[in-house]
Amino acid sequence: MKNVIEVKKLTKEYKNLKAVDDISFEVKEGEILGLLGPNGSGKSTTINCILSLLEFSDGKIKIFGEEMKPDSYSIKEKIGVIFQDVAVFEELTVYENIDYFCGLYIKDKTTREKYIEDAVKLVGLEEFLKFYPKQLSGGLLRRLNIACGIAHKPKLIFLDEPTVAVDPQSRNNILDGIKKLRDNGATIVYTTHYMEEVEILCDRVIILDKGKIIASGTNDELKELAKIKEKVSVELIDQKETLLDKVRTLKHVENVTLNNNLLVITYRKGTNNLGNLIDFLKEENVKYSKIYSERPTLNDVFLELTGKELRD
Ligand SMILES: Nc1ncnc2c1ncn2[C@@H]1O[C@H](COP(=O)(O)OP(=O)(O)O)[C@@H](O)[C@H]1O
Ligand SMILES: [Mg+2]
Repeated sequence: MKNVIEVKKLTKEYKNLKAVDDISFEVKEGEILGLLGPNGSGKSTTINCILSLLEFSDGKIKIFGEEMKPDSYSIKEKIGVIFQDVAVFEELTVYENIDYFCGLYIKDKTTREKYIEDAVKLVGLEEFLKFYPKQLSGGLLRRLNIACGIAHKPKLIFLDEPTVAVDPQSRNNILDGIKKLRDNGATIVYTTHYMEEVEILCDRVIILDKGKIIASGTNDELKELAKIKEKVSVELIDQKETLLDKVRTLKHVENVTLNNNLLVITYRKGTNNLGNLIDFLKEENVKYSKIYSERPTLNDVFLELTGKELRD
């Protein structure tokens, strides 16, 4: 697969703070790459450097195989950017806003009308075309912001935390829309501090902390970094004194706890644990009302790598 973006040894300093600290990565054609990290980890700074909107101390950026510079207009017209802060015109309606931004790139009126229709459909704003931004809820406003950024059908799209402070319906709409953009052939860079979004949306993830890349890979590859590969919880109906010691001797078991009637078992390896445990409980004639298994989340991985939670 071709690299759409190549970032080599990028560093951005503010006085004595390294907001981005010597990071290198590629974005491959047709993928959704997630930049995941807590607030202040350098996600927006990275994007703004890639786009040549910020000067950086050190590093090289290539987009579509060419070096990216502040005046690389032929590259820039193939890019769509949705910034963290909503930027639309208050005095224009929803339709007029999208028309304005699309019109910066698409001069032919018939083509533009078709493109605007596609953008409106993608974010589900059909009912709101005549509304002004201040009449829209936070979620709808975000959707408008996205429509403005993608209406010209850019090949490469940057979205910087587009779901912060939006309602669940808008969030789902936005995530579905981004998948459709990818399925239609766009390459996408998506920043967020919500690991759940990265898990459902991103083909590959880079985890940032304090301006550094602390891990990268697919969701599955990242979860392999977690020491605990599976957690099984059992809601016991009755308990036997000897149960805990026997469970501790089962294959792959790392730790066993019993609180009230909840037995929690963590495993070092993630294969066949649930099946083995169910067989074991049957043999031991242990009664339970519920049994369920959980895989590690990216938050568990982040916690192990940094000693802190992803969320503030
Ligand atoms: N204009 C600026 N001047 C000084 N420090 C900044 C500036 N912009 C960002 N920073 C600092 O750079 C770090 C990374 O910020 P940012 O890229 O906005 O993080 P994120 O987008 O992951 O929340 C933070 O510590 C932030 O305070
Ligand atoms: Mg940011």
